[in-house]
Amino acid sequence: MSGTDQAFSQLAALVSPIGRELLDRLARLDVTPETELHVGALLRREYPTELVTAALGQHELRRRAQQKFTRAQQMYFTRAGLEQATAEVIARHRAMRFAGALRVADLCCGIGGDLVALAPGREVVAVDRDPLHLRMAELNADAYGVGAAVTAVHADVREVELNSVDAVFVDPARRARGHRMRAGDSEPPLSWSTSLVNRVEAVGIKAAPGIARDAVPGGWEVEFIADRRDLKEAALWSPALAAGTSRATILPQGHVLLPLPGDGVEHRDPGEFLLDPNPAVTRAGLVEDLARSLGAWKIDAQIAFLSSDQPLCTPFARTLQVLDSGPWDQKALRPRLRALDIGSVDIRRRGLAGDVEDLHRQLKLRGTQRATLVMTRVDDRPWALICAPTSHSAGSAG
Ligand SMILES: C[S@@+](CC[C@H](N)C(=O)[O-])C[C@H]1O[C@@H](n2cnc3c(N)ncnc32)[C@H](O)[C@@H]1O
Repeated sequence: MSGTDQAFSQLAALVSPIGRELLDRLARLDVTPETELHVGALLRREYPTELVTAALGQHELRRRAQQKFTRAQQMYFTRAGLEQATAEVIARHRAMRFAGALRVADLCCGIGGDLVALAPGREVVAVDRDPLHLRMAELNADAYGVGAAVTAVHADVREVELNSVDAVFVDPARRARGHRMRAGDSEPPLSWSTSLVNRVEAVGIKAAPGIARDAVPGGWEVEFIADRRDLKEAALWSPALAAGTSRATILPQGHVLLPLPGDGVEHRDPGEFLLDPNPAVTRAGLVEDLARSLGAWKIDAQIAFLSSDQPLCTPFARTLQVLDSGPWDQKALRPRLRALDIGSVDIRRRGLAGDVEDLHRQLKLRGTQRATLVMTRVDDRPWALICAPTSHSAGSAG
């Protein structure tokens, strides 16, 4: 039996009534890697050995998938399919861009992470050349109650005609044979995905957050998406779906920052508060736009920190209160921290080289308070700021 045939018969066994019963039992038993061996031995007395092995593997993937999907326990995954799948919160956000489309093609649908968010309220043609992923995408659409909206097509996306759809979403593979491809590479390549705009006006493409800006065609929008402060991915939107050249989106709330008219932002020494922009804002090149929207200033032409004398509250940055600020002087740092009764620091380095571990050792702090030590540049001079969190940064999206 070929590897694909074997994987298919395993999946068929897991989807059968006895397979589902076994997967449900594993979910109820809450099997973990520590208890797996013991539980496996007990279950092999009741179920066929191969089925127990397949179910334990699937259960482990479902456990991991809970970080991405609220219905993970009813879904089916391959390891590679799960790793590459879009998390529900991001897929839902991105699917909103297709609000006007009644029939969408989900090219390279994988196990259906995007599919389950695209399908509600429209028809979706799901295409993948991996038959196992495609079958899982169908099953996962059923798990979300949207299976009836999905037409699954087993094909190379290059061979699919797109006359009947009014929008296309593509999530090209960025891994092959278990390995990450080189930065910028994907299958199909980005140039193929962007050329789809010659066939369908409305195109969305998932891309790596490290995408080079010059890879984005003129007139397209690049959106950088963070889940809280974790930069997750980028999306490219063809002119028909674009609302500007770049955008930063912070999930789960869906806060959106777009370019603001105007140019230039004042550079000044730090004031009473330091703002550390969300990585999505920095990647989208919107630090100055954020400064203009908040009435904040930059502390250096090249450095992505902002400052203000007001305790600004924004989802797009973490706001820290500046307790001490001055040119970098390593000898003076210890007495300055001691005077503030600081016993431990998180060191944040931006634009200034230095061995953080070594600095931690040299500081030998003994106080009772915790602070953030920011090593950076102010007007191109090495600088140190000792900062405390504010209520405006605690637990916020920024
Ligand atoms: C990144 S995954 C898609 C993940 C999916 N959006 C999700 O959220 O689950 C990429 C998929 O592209 C498929 N793929 C790669 N090249 C393809 C091609 N030329 N034609 C069809 N499918 C392709 C792979 O089989 C894989 O399932």
